[in-house]
Amino acid sequence: MKETLPRLGVNIDHIATVRNARGGEHPDPVAGAWAAIQAGADGITAHLREDRRHMRDDDMERLQLLCESENIPLNMEMAATSEMQNIALRLKPKAVCIVPERREERTTEGGLDVAGQHNRLVPIISALNDNGSRVSLFIEAVTHQIEAAARTDAKVVEFHTGAYAHALDADDKGKADEILKALQKGATLAHSLGLEVHFGHGLTFDNVEPIAAIPEGMELNIGHFIIGEAIFMGLEPAIKEMHRRATQARYRS
Ligand code: PXP
Repeated sequence: MKETLPRLGVNIDHIATVRNARGGEHPDPVAGAWAAIQAGADGITAHLREDRRHMRDDDMERLQLLCESENIPLNMEMAATSEMQNIALRLKPKAVCIVPERREERTTEGGLDVAGQHNRLVPIISALNDNGSRVSLFIEAVTHQIEAAARTDAKVVEFHTGAYAHALDADDKGKADEILKALQKGATLAHSLGLEVHFGHGLTFDNVEPIAAIPEGMELNIGHFIIGEAIFMGLEPAIKEMHRRATQARYRS
């Protein structure tokens, strides 16, 4: 049973956001990653964006060294561009999550169009996979995208939980239930096609449990809420509490 508990990947991007607000070196996201590992994070996730708005190239290098020495997977989120592909090929993170990226967005707003961009994505996915990084594709839980993901070398799909989080924030229980059902159905389909299932985006103490309860889910990637909550309760208690809620939800399900 324990092996099937969802792993918690802590996304440390927003430690870098705070650092960059003043242009100095504090707070250091790599020191934050170390603290997250001490607090029980099962993995560290970081998104190197084209505009470097939070993580910088040198952060990624230091993160990879830290994660290697702590034997913890680094999950590098990146857009499918040749610049990012080259960086990932050099860094060799344990995992790479390919996400859609638009300069004007505040955060990753939707899933990757794997079906529409199949021919462009396939060589990038294969190159990263052959280089030893386990590739996941950040998609919406819809059948044609899941089936398209299964036709690539990617071993993992991460389902975007942002719409679920937004529906709950807007008090739209009907919509949230509908999205939750789609995530459950998508997880069953992806699993049946041999894909490992992860979830991420917009997850909080209040909305994580129904997502963590989905039995096929192997990993939750959570950033903004944990880093924000760390201001009030500290990073270690925030990570421990997220772990506790995810574990409890899985044991209950
Ligand atoms: N997973 C992916 C693929 C993401 O792009 C993000 C946001 O960078 C997250 C998870 C974490 O989302 P949040 O910061 O809302 O927890």
